[in-house]
Amino acid sequence: MSAFIVLGAQWGDEGKGKMTDYLAEEADVVVRFQGGNNAGHTVEVEDKQYKLHLIPSGVLYDTKLNVIGNGVVVDPKALFEEIDYLEGLGVKVTPEKLMISDRAHLIMPYHRVLDKLKEQARGKNDIGTTGKGIGPCYTDKFERSGIRVCDLLHKEVFVEKLKVNVEAKNEYITNVLHGEALSFEEIYNDYIAYEERLRPYVQDTSVKVYEAIKSNKQVLFEGAQGMLLDIDYGTYPYVTSSNTTAGGVSNGVGVGPTMITNAVGIAKAYTTRVGKGPFPTELENETGDWIREKGREFGVTTGRARRCGWLDLVILKTTVRVCGLTSLAVTKIDTLAGLEKIKVCVGYKFNGTIIDYFPASLEDLAKCEPVYEEFDGWDESVADARSYDEIPENAKKYLKRIEEITDTRISIVSVGPRRDQTMRIAEL
Ligand code: GDP
Ligand code: IMO
Ligand code: MG
Repeated sequence: MSAFIVLGAQWGDEGKGKMTDYLAEEADVVVRFQGGNNAGHTVEVEDKQYKLHLIPSGVLYDTKLNVIGNGVVVDPKALFEEIDYLEGLGVKVTPEKLMISDRAHLIMPYHRVLDKLKEQARGKNDIGTTGKGIGPCYTDKFERSGIRVCDLLHKEVFVEKLKVNVEAKNEYITNVLHGEALSFEEIYNDYIAYEERLRPYVQDTSVKVYEAIKSNKQVLFEGAQGMLLDIDYGTYPYVTSSNTTAGGVSNGVGVGPTMITNAVGIAKAYTTRVGKGPFPTELENETGDWIREKGREFGVTTGRARRCGWLDLVILKTTVRVCGLTSLAVTKIDTLAGLEKIKVCVGYKFNGTIIDYFPASLEDLAKCEPVYEEFDGWDESVADARSYDEIPENAKKYLKRIEEITDTRISIVSVGPRRDQTMRIAEL
């Protein structure tokens, strides 16, 4: 029996899509447990590139079951656009290959509108959301006025819930946010059309995943975003609206924590962040620009330039602790190739002492000064490495130090975007 988690150990975009696709080879089921189409997961297979947002990254295999769990927020419009995009690239997305939880909440057009208008209203204090309606949808979920997939399958329930919601949202949108009212009829007609297409994919996915684990199938839980975007443990309020940490799996799928065997944290060899919020090791200089260009650090979902900085082991230590990581997968060591010196943050200087945990208060975080260790760089040959022995010595020293400081083994090293540029060096 094996059920393992693959999650982002930093601020997202660590290479979760690539790693999930790589590890899906040995899995039978790939499950998304939180987030929605705010995610942008890139998978490269041979010379083809696939950009996934809502659909699990196991979809490129014909033999794997992909599950969108109850903790995910599902925008049906975005879902069908993604299915059409994948089918256009020759990837089949049939109800045998993709199942969607009947308990998942639906992103509605007013959630997208609210996301944008609320960001505008925040002015200079905006969060820099992806504008996909994620926050407003989770708000309704927890406020208990949300519309779930199972509601859409019951037309009379859907009509009632939609009426109440459109009325309430229109009042808020027009009177408080000074936006334009949405049409009930338009939304109703669109969603009734989506229902017909959605119905074959809908299942009680908790039952399916439980049965898979019980029958010794390998189940991979694919995280979206990253540990520091977690609603509880991230840099609040500059976070997303779900639990991106390992704890999110149980609630977001409906499987008990005792059924999960391993948790792999995906960490880039440096750090990036999109959107606003604190970033202690950010490089707002030529080195940061160099990393952005070399690593092609531009958002998959919004196209925004990602902020870049040195690797921060205070962050990784926090992820190891909060998520109970059993191993780390380190990506993009090829991007750093060519730098003469590379720095790694090993602690923060805070109020005269050195700390190695991530403070809750942003005001405290602002006072933290990274303490760096410096490493000699390595050359471009790293991208050709296909076994651990072939990795340049200086890069090995870098990886060893990550293991030492985080007290966690590295199970996978990635030296390029493709499936074949990946090395499994230890147990997950
Ligand atoms: P995700 O959101 O965590 O799935 O990551 P993204 O897909 O948003 O961003 C990661 C980017 O890095 C993608 O363009 C990947 O193709 C690419 N990538 C992943 N691993 C590596 C690697 O080891 N080296 C290089 N150069 N690119 C990588
Ligand atoms: P993947 O899965 C990086 C960021 C947004 C913003 C904050 C809140 O590709 O790693 P939201 O739209 O979720 O309310 O935005 O979270 N964000 C991400 N940053 N990678 C992602 O996903 C992200 N999903 C959301 O930029 O700062
Ligand atoms: Mg991404």
